[in-house]
Amino acid sequence: MHDSVIQIHNLGKLYRLGGHTRLDQTIPDAINEKIRGAMGLIRRGGLATPKKDNREFWALRNVSFDVALGEVVGIIGRNGAGKSTLLKVLSHITDPTEGYAVVHGRVASLLEVGTGFHPELTGMENIYLNGSILGMSRREIKQKFDEIVDFSGVEKFLDTPIKRYSSGMTMRLAFSVAAHLDPEILVIDEVLAVGDAEFQKKCLGKMSEVAHSGRTVLFVSHNMNAVEELCQKVVLLNGGCVKRCSTDVRDVICEHLFGEDQEHLAHEWVNPGKEFDNPWFKPQRMLLTDSDGKPVNMPLSNNSDIWVQIEGEVDRLDPALTIGYAVYNEAGHALFWSYQTDQSEDRWPKLHKGTVTLRGRVPKRLLNEGTYRIEFIGGLHCRQWLFEPAVHAPSIAMTIQGGLSDSPLWIRKRPGLIAPVIDWKTAA
Ligand SMILES: Nc1ncnc2c1ncn2[C@@H]1O[C@H](COP(=O)(O)OP(=O)(O)OP(=O)(O)O)[C@@H](O)[C@H]1O
Ligand SMILES: [Mg+2]
Repeated sequence: MHDSVIQIHNLGKLYRLGGHTRLDQTIPDAINEKIRGAMGLIRRGGLATPKKDNREFWALRNVSFDVALGEVVGIIGRNGAGKSTLLKVLSHITDPTEGYAVVHGRVASLLEVGTGFHPELTGMENIYLNGSILGMSRREIKQKFDEIVDFSGVEKFLDTPIKRYSSGMTMRLAFSVAAHLDPEILVIDEVLAVGDAEFQKKCLGKMSEVAHSGRTVLFVSHNMNAVEELCQKVVLLNGGCVKRCSTDVRDVICEHLFGEDQEHLAHEWVNPGKEFDNPWFKPQRMLLTDSDGKPVNMPLSNNSDIWVQIEGEVDRLDPALTIGYAVYNEAGHALFWSYQTDQSEDRWPKLHKGTVTLRGRVPKRLLNEGTYRIEFIGGLHCRQWLFEPAVHAPSIAMTIQGGLSDSPLWIRKRPGLIAPVIDWKTAA
């Protein structure tokens, strides 16, 4: 007998674009539409009738891996890689087109916001509904009830129908229910995308508690720090296929962030389209230059003048607009962030409407030898991200080699994340 609780074999999911479920629909939308359809509320030729389109598309293909009892597995990959589709198949929300997935145990899943909640029922009724779906008795749910409510922080709204909740509140309650109702397997999709920083921290703490109590957890996230902290194994999906599946978590994260071939990383990013559009600032280009604005060649000496040049279009001026760059090492750890607003206000570069070019210096002799990822980050300070660090932001690579110090002893890579050159003296 082996102890794998999830066996996935040759799993494939084919979507027919323009079929019964539209791309822009959430699952609750689709369900609602089905119900309305069954009740005769959707007229033929009405708005909700999808256009005929016979294109087919494999969102998952030949996916095989096992998950052992008590294992905490991270599923990572770019947008559209198939992560959510995989979790939906495992949670029986959608059927696979080929292959199979066998899941042994009670699964609690937290997928899209509100999945598993009935919009017309109150918060309290939904807690009981979810518990009974998980096979728990009324008494068991009652025992957990206070903990769930406490953790979610929506106590005042327990008698309010879920449809009146904000997406953040729904998420809080959904996470709380999924994590507290003693599932054997917890399946979580991007829980860190919604909710404030404090709640995200609480979620991570709770997930690590669940993970340490021997429960099996499948966790989709774009937050590599969280994945590294929580997971013992990572599956990297690419175009619907498993690119890597390994317990060497760092190595897989590194491959995801940098690509396999670190020698051929892009040193310049040019916006390919409208992906990062927002009403304030449209990023257009990022590259590394010397002090005259000329693009530099890799590898760079640690003692050379390096500037991160970022270009974009300011559409709406806002005093809270902060644009900058973040630096990550090969393990995906953030080393530092820098914004155009780092110094006293009188020294901030003036922003104006239209195309702007900003340049931020990379400090000399601070980094160690190695390859770094430089991310184009920006937001409205304390209000919202426009391109969020380590989650969704354009990036380029920078390689540093040599020039670490003028000392004859310390010219190569040194131990430590950074390698600053420090002043030393003898005390008088
Ligand atoms: N119901 C659907 N009908 C047709 N195509 C779909 C449907 N759901 C997802 N897709 C497509 O399948 C692919 C995989 O989507 P999926 O949501 O699994 O990606 P993901 O890895 O979760 O991405 P993200 O990181 O953006 O959440 C995408 O190209 C998506 O457009
Ligand atoms: Mg997804």
